[in-house]
Amino acid sequence: MSCHKQFNPITIIGAGVIGTSWAALFLANGYEVRINDISKTLEDDVINGIKNIEPTLKTLGYDTKDLGKKLIIEKNQSEAVKGAKIIQENGPENIEFKQNLYQNLEKYADEDAIFLTSSSSIPASIISEKMNNPERMCVGHPFNPPHLIPLVEIVPGKATSEITLNKSKEFYESLGKSPIILKKEINGFVANRLQAAIFQECINLVLEGVVNPKDLDTVVDSSLGLRWAADGPFLSFHLGGGNGGFEDFMNHLGKNMPDLWKQLGHPELNEDNIEKLITMVNKAYKGLSISELSSQRDKKQINIINALNN
Ligand SMILES: NC(=O)c1ccc[n+]([C@@H]2O[C@H](COP(=O)([O-])OP(=O)(O)OC[C@H]3O[C@@H](n4cnc5c(N)ncnc54)[C@H](O)[C@@H]3O)[C@@H](O)[C@H]2O)c1
Repeated sequence: MSCHKQFNPITIIGAGVIGTSWAALFLANGYEVRINDISKTLEDDVINGIKNIEPTLKTLGYDTKDLGKKLIIEKNQSEAVKGAKIIQENGPENIEFKQNLYQNLEKYADEDAIFLTSSSSIPASIISEKMNNPERMCVGHPFNPPHLIPLVEIVPGKATSEITLNKSKEFYESLGKSPIILKKEINGFVANRLQAAIFQECINLVLEGVVNPKDLDTVVDSSLGLRWAADGPFLSFHLGGGNGGFEDFMNHLGKNMPDLWKQLGHPELNEDNIEKLITMVNKAYKGLSISELSSQRDKKQINIINALNN
């Protein structure tokens, strides 16, 4: 548990999938968390959501005995942000909604509050367009679920100050996360662009009949996934070059990659192909419910995270 006074209390705006997960993690770290959402069933949803996340937090080593003690459900948005040091927003992924929301939140927030959006695609420069002080706003994009996956991409807008970036990094580090500050704005940030590039070829290989979805998943989790959980692509290829490192790798194998790049597929996602993919994936994983598969995934990911931390 590592609650830092300078980041306490925290306000969560939008308590859906991402907001609830952030709330559970912030609470587990000892922060006071005010949570705001327009949902009529807010209180029940948040309490049940946090209850479902609790076992995972416990396995990660958090003491979850008094998890809900510092949780405040605040339906009034202006009250929710007053006095908050960090505002983590997780509302709908819609430009107009987010622009108006930030314009409004800024009126009630303290001068030193930092605004972080979980947005997975909208740049901070666009979200903060109607703010008077956009220097205190940036993207803090988690990978789902935020209470479990270490990465947070911090992405500055054109006006974001260095102070905001550094404080945001310090804040996420206080939660045991692995925040990375991107040097400039780009659609999809880094992790989702990588995911999109790889998934494009996954779909291509399946639609071309080279491999079925289940075998493709096995190819990834028993090779690239395992390798990349330990070391990212650059370090992996630095090691792939033997004693000569990355230079030898590039001269030997790397320089042939462009030939393969030219052959990568650009599958068409029309209705027929989408239908085909859905049928194949459902067939591959029939017999196990989504909640059974999710809990298996969580267990495996926790084991990997704990192993890497040891
Ligand atoms: N789901 C993911 O995998 C994922 C991953 C990373 C980032 N994100 C980003 O996180 C954000 C939230 O995504 P989500 O998947 O949690 O969506 P969600 O639909 O589960 O949650 C959105 C919540 O916002 C609430 N809301 C709507 N209007 C509001 C208002 N005026 N004030 C307060 N709350 C309001 C809704 O009631 C809902 O509970 C999005 O920006 C998304 O891009 C999502």
